[in-house]
Amino acid sequence: MRILVIGSGGREHALLWKLSQSSEVDKLYCAPGNGGIGELAEVVDVGSEDVEALAEFAENQDIDLAVVGPEAALAKGIVDVFEKRGLRIFGPRKAAAKLESSKSFAKNLMKKYKIPTAQFAVFDDAQAARAYVRQLGVPIVIKADGLCAGKGTIVAHTLSEALGAVDLLMEDKIFKQAGERIIIEERLIGEEVSIIVGTDGVTALPLAASQDHKRLLDGDKGPNTGGMGAYAPAPVVDDVLSKQVMEEVILPTIHGMTNEGLALKGVLYAGLMLTSDGPKVLEYNVRFGDPEIQAILPLLKSDLVPLLDDAVEGRLSLTQCAWEKASCACVVLASGGYPGEFAIGKEIRGLERLKDKPDLWAFHAGTKKDRGRFLSWGGRVLNIVGRGATLEEAFKRAYEAIGEIGFDGMQYRKDIGHRALKRPVGAK
Ligand code: AMP
Ligand code: GLY
Repeated sequence: MRILVIGSGGREHALLWKLSQSSEVDKLYCAPGNGGIGELAEVVDVGSEDVEALAEFAENQDIDLAVVGPEAALAKGIVDVFEKRGLRIFGPRKAAAKLESSKSFAKNLMKKYKIPTAQFAVFDDAQAARAYVRQLGVPIVIKADGLCAGKGTIVAHTLSEALGAVDLLMEDKIFKQAGERIIIEERLIGEEVSIIVGTDGVTALPLAASQDHKRLLDGDKGPNTGGMGAYAPAPVVDDVLSKQVMEEVILPTIHGMTNEGLALKGVLYAGLMLTSDGPKVLEYNVRFGDPEIQAILPLLKSDLVPLLDDAVEGRLSLTQCAWEKASCACVVLASGGYPGEFAIGKEIRGLERLKDKPDLWAFHAGTKKDRGRFLSWGGRVLNIVGRGATLEEAFKRAYEAIGEIGFDGMQYRKDIGHRALKRPVGAK
């Protein structure tokens, strides 16, 4: 098979690494890729949102399957464009991608299908939104309706913070159209987990449960980011909880979408808060999590191609995944200043020392290859992934490897996995 992966992050590097091991794969392409991806795939200089040019490329190169990484391409309708040309592509159509690209759509779907989530109200008018904030009081959560690269949610602890958030989104329009409509919801308390499944609109094939670390700094402090690290499997998700999430969240979501005439094909990712009242949905994504998938794929013993292919063909009920009895830890190395302004073009030292080490991977995100050297070329630069018999071992491997590499301004969290590592083995 000739497979085209669309995107340029650590998620896409990890997908290509896994695909490169499949006996079904003849040739891999990636558009637009990054510095590290060039070692696994032919890099194509077309942006991930240039959907017509990507479809043209796929048609000309006889691509058998395209796999979409980022949400923006899905929200733009890349799947519809490919399907119109008779090209096979893993991901939901534009109308179904609304589950991620419109939070009000997602919340109304949850309400209709009785899927547990925070109490909420939707506003198109700033004055009404402010009145509601005053009526409910704090803490309270304000969310932009549209895609904001993970920055559209404000958990407000004071009234002025909450009213300021309404103003920033609706009056100052810092996220343009994405914030013209907002969701105001109850603040939930608990531990967060990411449940990611493959789906063909009927069946859900679960991947290992994982946990992300959205805040920049140790102790879950500082601003929200795209994700500073992850691990899998998340020990907090035992068999009982897994079954509950499948029955109360995942399957009702998939069947609800199909019932609405919006069958979801590809990935369903539910970001959950494990509250004292049971798991509740914080958000949905319709693509693999980044950095979660970097910690999940090295645990997948079986081939990834059947999962992707069977989801596209609507026969996922026949697919099975085999998993390593191991754990994975992923630590993100970011540029100094991220998620705010940051400089790029810093030489990354020591990467060659990690090459071919067992149970260790350096998945590239924002990197560029320049005359044999790797340069930082984005906010999140590298994902260092360690695998071990236990989570402790996996983290030890990842953090030891980080000691071997560096670039000017490099920042990373030293406490990825703190929740799981505090949990005694076998604890519920
Ligand atoms: P979202 O943009 O909905 O994915 O939210 C981003 C982050 O904000 C989540 O990962 C949570 O940490 C936090 N968050 C979102 N909604 C709530 C909520 N209702 N209660 C508490 N925290 C929330
Ligand atoms: N790691 C969070 C996300 O992929 O949205």
